[in-house]
Amino acid sequence: MSGLYAPGPKPISYNMKNTKRHLITAALPYANGPVHIGHLAGVYIPADIYSRYLRLKREDIIFICGSDEHGVPITIKARQEGVTPQQIVDHYHQMNKDSFERFGIAFDIYHRTSHPTHHQTASEFFRTLYDRGEFLEKETEQYFDEEAGQFLADRYITGTCPKCTHDQAYGDQCENCGSSLNATDLINPRSTISGSVPVRRKTIHWYLPLDKYEGFLKQWILEENKHWKPNVYGQCKSWLDGGLEARAVTRDLDWGIPVPIDGVKGKVLYVWFDAPIGYISATKDLTKNWADYWKQDDTRMIHFIGKDNIVFHCIIFPVMLKAEGSYVLPENVPANEFLNLENDKISTSRNWAVWLHEYLVEFEGKQDVLRYVLCANAPEAKDNDFTWKDFQARNNNELVAILGNFVHRALVLTHKYFNGRVPAPENPDQYDKEVLDSISSYRDKVEDNLDHFRFREALKEAMNLARLGNKYLADTEPWKHFKNDPGRVKNILYTALQITASVAAIIKPFLPFTAVKLEGFLNAGEIGWQDIGNTSLLPVGHEINQPELLFDKIEDVTIQVQLDKLASSKKLNEARESGLPDLKEEVSYEDFSRMDIRVARILAAEKVPKTDKLIKLDLDTGLDKRTVVSGIAEYFKPEEIIGKQVCILANLAPRKLRGIVSHGMVLLAEDANGRLVFVTPEEITGEGSVVL
Ligand code: 2FM
Ligand code: ZN
Repeated sequence: MSGLYAPGPKPISYNMKNTKRHLITAALPYANGPVHIGHLAGVYIPADIYSRYLRLKREDIIFICGSDEHGVPITIKARQEGVTPQQIVDHYHQMNKDSFERFGIAFDIYHRTSHPTHHQTASEFFRTLYDRGEFLEKETEQYFDEEAGQFLADRYITGTCPKCTHDQAYGDQCENCGSSLNATDLINPRSTISGSVPVRRKTIHWYLPLDKYEGFLKQWILEENKHWKPNVYGQCKSWLDGGLEARAVTRDLDWGIPVPIDGVKGKVLYVWFDAPIGYISATKDLTKNWADYWKQDDTRMIHFIGKDNIVFHCIIFPVMLKAEGSYVLPENVPANEFLNLENDKISTSRNWAVWLHEYLVEFEGKQDVLRYVLCANAPEAKDNDFTWKDFQARNNNELVAILGNFVHRALVLTHKYFNGRVPAPENPDQYDKEVLDSISSYRDKVEDNLDHFRFREALKEAMNLARLGNKYLADTEPWKHFKNDPGRVKNILYTALQITASVAAIIKPFLPFTAVKLEGFLNAGEIGWQDIGNTSLLPVGHEINQPELLFDKIEDVTIQVQLDKLASSKKLNEARESGLPDLKEEVSYEDFSRMDIRVARILAAEKVPKTDKLIKLDLDTGLDKRTVVSGIAEYFKPEEIIGKQVCILANLAPRKLRGIVSHGMVLLAEDANGRLVFVTPEEITGEGSVVL
């Protein structure tokens, strides 16, 4: 068990639709990159808030997540970096697990799909359906890269989308229009491994006949799950209206879970077949009672996901579960839309993102600020935008000015007037009583919103309790009355302190770090969810601790650093789009200093016979006279360059080009359009001068 969550006895059933236990899952992120704010806002923050809320209510709940470690993107990344897929997933699994934990996403287990428990669970699941004759076995033609000697599954192939003409669609999906595709649908297919045009080859695969389950899905989703969020229900309806086809659940790859059929080699389970089974494997490794959560009707299973995962969690996985027969189906799938960043789509390849592991370092101790902003601005019903200015404004104008300010004033004034002890109220007036009586209504509103997955609204209501406290202190102005009417001030601070105690509990699902701090200031131990609205939570005479500030103002300079970072990404992307290659891997100063770059003069130049590109140069390097062969014939005429000073890499190992041994390399600058110019000293200098 990891992270920060409200402890307490469990399990105790709470009467929510006669539910005994809750099984909360959050989409398993691919272990091929770090987690960013889009993932957090879409999936992990709402899932964590919801799980914390259920725990606070003493529900029997488990919160499951882990790394999705199979699939083509992982093998592509490994190939790019010259390492094994296992090295990639080991690295990102650890990184994401740590980041989630430090951010207070309190999973009960963060599992991984390369784990033996998962391989066994997914194999058995496949085998059960296979033995029952649930799959169709089909021989089809699939693309094969003859250069790489392998079939091209999913992202190993790109081409033009037949639906929207986007020219970078993948073999399984077009990210532009969201269509799910078969590789053979692509126009002008190309291998992403070698860039070559693939050929078709016959191969056998196993298909899950989704069409056979259309009737079941229509009844279950369209009739029985009308309470699902409109974006989720709508996407399912359009899939069902369009008619379903059998989907291949195996692939010709070597990274993944081997197809568990005797004699089948070189084939693995499709990543989207095995990944959701990862929720089951994780539960198995969390608790020996795993089957209660997965197989008892009074379980309430909720999948938190982003909108690109809807079809897999609402259609394909439920069909798998239904076909297997012994598992529960999800009660709800509250998928969110996407979060943009500064008005542009978040993109890993363009480094247009706020990465969680970087945020945790650059904004140390400010986990709750990001949790707050991403929840307040969550893409619940439509895509939304994160901007650093909004981040700053919400911190300064809401967390500092409302929540922090109220708590600070209540606690500081208690120290100032009553030595840090809760004063006894004396004849509270109507306003005091109304305020105290209203506290529990905030809890009711937060609950109603959370029960319906309205996290933005829930957070707003929680903050409204702090707003109430702020307004109450501003209206009653205790600092003006202490001299003349200390009794009045006792009532006011008694009331303000009781609000503060309820605030400490009501913010717990959203701002767990702040809640712990506030409980520390109040010195009253753990305040439970059911305590919200208790008007004598802090008893008369109870001594509170010295408070500190809950939140600091975020200054413009801090925000500017982040905006500058994004500006650099933008500049780099523009440079890339204009054709400039990426920066190469960093080298050490020692690496650089081993290169001997000198000024040399071209003494003679002639084209190398029977070549288009090569010119043979005789050079005076100041140290020697030597021959260098250079691929510049398309850009320079030999007679025009004789006498020029150029820079050369003088200690490059000799190599033979068309029978001529070349001793070094002339340095050239190539612009985005491929035009070449010599790198020359700005003024004439001695041959042999060293370039430093
Ligand atoms: O979209 C993704 O990032 C997938 N890795 C989510 C998988 S969710 C579950 F099914 F495992
Ligand atoms: Zn498309």
